[in-house]
Amino acid sequence: MENEVSRRNFIRSSAAVLAAAPAALPMLGANNKTTVGWVGTGTRGNYVMEMMYKALGKDVEVTAVCDTYKGNLAKGKDKVQTNGGNAPKTYVDYRDLLKDPSIDVVFITTPEHLHHDMAIAALAAGKNIYLEKPIAHTIEEGWDIVKAAKKANKIVQVGTQNRSNSLYIKAKEMIAQGMIGDIHYVRAFWYRNSLNDNPAWRYAIPDDTNEENTDFNRFLGTAKKRPFHKGRYFQWRLYWDYSGGISTDLLVHQTDITNFVVGKTVPTSCMASGGIYRWADASDDREVPDTLSAIYDYADKFHINYSCYFGNENFGYGEQFCGNEGTIEVLNRQVLKFSTEKFRGKAPANIASRKEFETNLPGNDNLAVQAHVKNFIDAVRGNGTVIAPPEVGQQAAIGGHMATLSLRNNKKVLWNAKTDKWSFAG
Ligand SMILES: NC(=O)c1ccc[n+]([C@@H]2O[C@H](COP(=O)([O-])OP(=O)(O)OC[C@H]3O[C@@H](n4cnc5c(N)ncnc54)[C@H](O)[C@@H]3O)[C@@H](O)[C@H]2O)c1
Repeated sequence: MENEVSRRNFIRSSAAVLAAAPAALPMLGANNKTTVGWVGTGTRGNYVMEMMYKALGKDVEVTAVCDTYKGNLAKGKDKVQTNGGNAPKTYVDYRDLLKDPSIDVVFITTPEHLHHDMAIAALAAGKNIYLEKPIAHTIEEGWDIVKAAKKANKIVQVGTQNRSNSLYIKAKEMIAQGMIGDIHYVRAFWYRNSLNDNPAWRYAIPDDTNEENTDFNRFLGTAKKRPFHKGRYFQWRLYWDYSGGISTDLLVHQTDITNFVVGKTVPTSCMASGGIYRWADASDDREVPDTLSAIYDYADKFHINYSCYFGNENFGYGEQFCGNEGTIEVLNRQVLKFSTEKFRGKAPANIASRKEFETNLPGNDNLAVQAHVKNFIDAVRGNGTVIAPPEVGQQAAIGGHMATLSLRNNKKVLWNAKTDKWSFAG
């Protein structure tokens, strides 16, 4: 309850400081429902839809779903029928879905390389969008979306749901209250592992997949044309044409939440290194690393030390906000630990008297996604502003893309905040 209250207070107060948000008019379809079109009903699409129904119930109506693999299109339709009790129209081409003027909002939960064209087209069609992270596949495409959202004066929520997670909101408040003193340093990490017969990101390919029920050309979009390839379609995260790998799939959550909790925007530099070390079998044609470290500097003496490895998950997923007087750790999106610096027994009374604690909220990420979707629909209905507008989605993604650029070119990457452009150092 306390977390919920502070979340609401925080969202209210953050509304005042977020960059000028579009003035939304309440958008309601028939029966006061917000009408939803859904593009991409794969793993994330299905899950976010489930969370949307949990959070908003009958306030939303999914009237159309779109997917280029028939199996997932059918699953999306089923989910709507089960949760919403209506039969949505089905589409294979998202541009056909966007032509429906009765749709108020569009959820885009497709692979990364498709976000740009889909978001730009949805905004041009006058839709508000929930756009999964990363905002786009390149920095330049991200700027296009930021500009298009402003021009269209539509609401865009980027799917960085940690901003709606009560524990990160709590961490932000604690830091603002001075509980860990000055903060110049964050350690962030994401570790995973699996058995040899279950390589990272080699998701199962449905048995029935073929060229008739899987529209490979529409999946490719503007990416390089290639012959039909099931692996590229269902395991797109492993290939540079469609994904930035760890940098844009995982790390953007952590640059995002560090920006949010500590009040930062974009780094001034990034140096990354890594490679394919764990899943290096010669039969595996993956292109993106399974091992990545990235070091960021920000203006105002601030540093992120990031590491990710897909061969050991002992340390799990988390961020450690290392203040000069204490530490806040948020682990696996559901644990918050607060501890103070001991200064070898010489801690001043005002620090020693701070009460250490640990909060554990299993399943808190589900609540965060529900709150994130609700925040979006509320904003569309004219209540408040979104907590992850395109500008902050772009800031998070810039950090991720800088890591990819550094890794792939073996060079330090600099960010120029005056020109909003990157360059290689030296
Ligand atoms: N916020 C989070 O925590 C989180 C977690 C997981 C995934 N994601 C993001 O969600 C997005 C989707 O990831 P996923 O894991 O669901 O991938 P997925 O491969 O499971 O699902 C993608 C879906 O898009 C469909 N698709 C492909 N091309 C299409 C097109 N041209 N038109 C319509 N549908 C098309 C595919 O058939 C598939 O059903 C990515 O951007 C990913 O980064 C976010």
